[in-house]
Amino acid sequence: MQFVGDEAMTAFIHAFCGPHLLRLCPGFLQDFWDFDRSLHVFLQGVPRIFAPRAYASRKKVLDAVKTWQKHAREHGGTATAPGGPHADDDDDPFWGSSFFRERHKMFLEMDGYTTPPSPRKTSAQYGRTSHHIPSHPNTSVDPQTNPVPTLRARNSITATSWTVFELFRSPSLLAAVRAEVASCTTTSNNHGHVQFDTDRLLRLPLFQAVYAETLRLRMHFYVIRMPGRVDMDIRDWVIPCQSIVCTSTTAAHMGSQAWPTGLDNEYPVDTFGAGRFLTRPNPPPPPPEDPQTGHSARPDAKPPAREEDSQTAHGTRADAKTNPPTFSLTPVSNSWIPYGGGPRQCPGRQFAKRQILLTTVLFITLFDVEILGGGADVKEDLRSFSMGVAHPAGKVPCRMRRRRRERGGL
Ligand code: HEM
Repeated sequence: MQFVGDEAMTAFIHAFCGPHLLRLCPGFLQDFWDFDRSLHVFLQGVPRIFAPRAYASRKKVLDAVKTWQKHAREHGGTATAPGGPHADDDDDPFWGSSFFRERHKMFLEMDGYTTPPSPRKTSAQYGRTSHHIPSHPNTSVDPQTNPVPTLRARNSITATSWTVFELFRSPSLLAAVRAEVASCTTTSNNHGHVQFDTDRLLRLPLFQAVYAETLRLRMHFYVIRMPGRVDMDIRDWVIPCQSIVCTSTTAAHMGSQAWPTGLDNEYPVDTFGAGRFLTRPNPPPPPPEDPQTGHSARPDAKPPAREEDSQTAHGTRADAKTNPPTFSLTPVSNSWIPYGGGPRQCPGRQFAKRQILLTTVLFITLFDVEILGGGADVKEDLRSFSMGVAHPAGKVPCRMRRRRRERGGL
C-alpha cells in the first residue's frame, strides 16, 4: 500500500511544491509517512519522552520543508512574489503551483500566522482540520515552514491505495472496471505512453462507485462546527450559539438505515460494495418461468450472493451495453460526507477525485497485481481513527508485473 502511496505522493509533491523538495530531501517521503502514522501521538498529547520516534519524524518533515523554502527564497524570491525565471507561470519551479502560493499568501494575511503561533492559537487554527495536522501545545509551526498544505494530500493518497487494493482484491470487479475504463484509454503516437480522456473517466458509473465506496468505508473524521452568532436549528433540535458540534463521518457512513445493502443484503454496510451507489434505470425482465415446475427457466438464475456477483447484477458486465447502470450520490447525499459539508467542505475534493481515479486507472492499466497470503484481509489501523482516511494495519504482500499489450496493457 505504501508503494502506491509513494508513487502518488511523489507526483503530488512535484505538482504542488515543484521538483526541489524531494531532490533536496530524498528521505522526505519515508519521514512523512512515519509522521503521518504517528498522528495519534500528537492528538493524544503523548509527551516526547514516550514517543521519541514520532517527534523525530515530525522534526525531519519540518526541517525538510524549511530546507526547501530556504532554497526557494535563495533562488526564486518569495512565495507570494516568486522571482525565478518562470515566476509568471502557474507552476513556479521553486515555490510550486499557484494554488499552493495563493494559500500561503492567505495564511500570511491571517492573524497569528506572521509569527510562530502561540500554543493557544495553534489549537484554534488547526482544530477545524485536525485530520491534516493535529493540534498540540508543542506544535508551534513557523508559517514559512507550515507543512499543512502538503499534509492535505495524505487523505487522497491513502484513499488511492485503498481503491487500488479493492480492485486487485476482487478479480471480477477489476475486470468490470478495466472494461469500463478501456473506452477512455489511448496510447500517444509519439512516445507510446498511455493517455486518458479524463473528463469521460471521471463520469464512468462503476469507477465512480468504487471511488465513492472507498471513501465511505475508509474515511474516519469528525466534522466540527460551531454556530458563531446565533443558535442553530436542526429539525427538532437547537444547538446553542458558541457550542461545538462534532459529526462523525464513520457514524454517517455506517448507518444501515441510510445505506442500500443490496436486494439480499449482499453487501452489509461494513463491507465493500460499489453496487450501493449504482442504479439501473430499467431493470431487465425476469427470465421466463418453466411452465411445469413454475421455477425460473435458467437453473443458475438466483439472486447474487457475493459482492463481486452483485457487480454483475448491477449491470457492470453482461448487460452493461443494453441497460447501463447509473451512478448517483443524490439518494445518499446527506450520509456520504467524506469531504464534510456546506460552505466549509473540503475545497480539494474535485482535485482529490481526479487524483484518486487517475492514479488508480494508471495502476490497473499498466500492472497486474496478485495479492498473496492474508494480504486481502488487511484491516485498518485504528490508532489514528478520526484523522482521515485510515492506513492499513499491516503490509499487503503481493506479486506485481507489467501487463502485456495483448492483455490490455499499453
Ligand atoms: C480523499 C481526499 C480528501 C478528503 C476525504 C478530504 C476531507 C476533508 C474534510 C472532511 C475537510 C474538513 C471539511 C469540513 O469541515 O466540512 C477538509 C478540509 C480541507 N481540505 Fe480536504 N480532503 C481530501 C483531499 C484534499 C486535497 C487533495 C486538498 C488540497 C489539494 C485538500 C484541501 C483541503 C483544505 C484546504 C481544507 C480546509 C478548508 C477550510 O478550512 O475551510 N483536501 N478536507
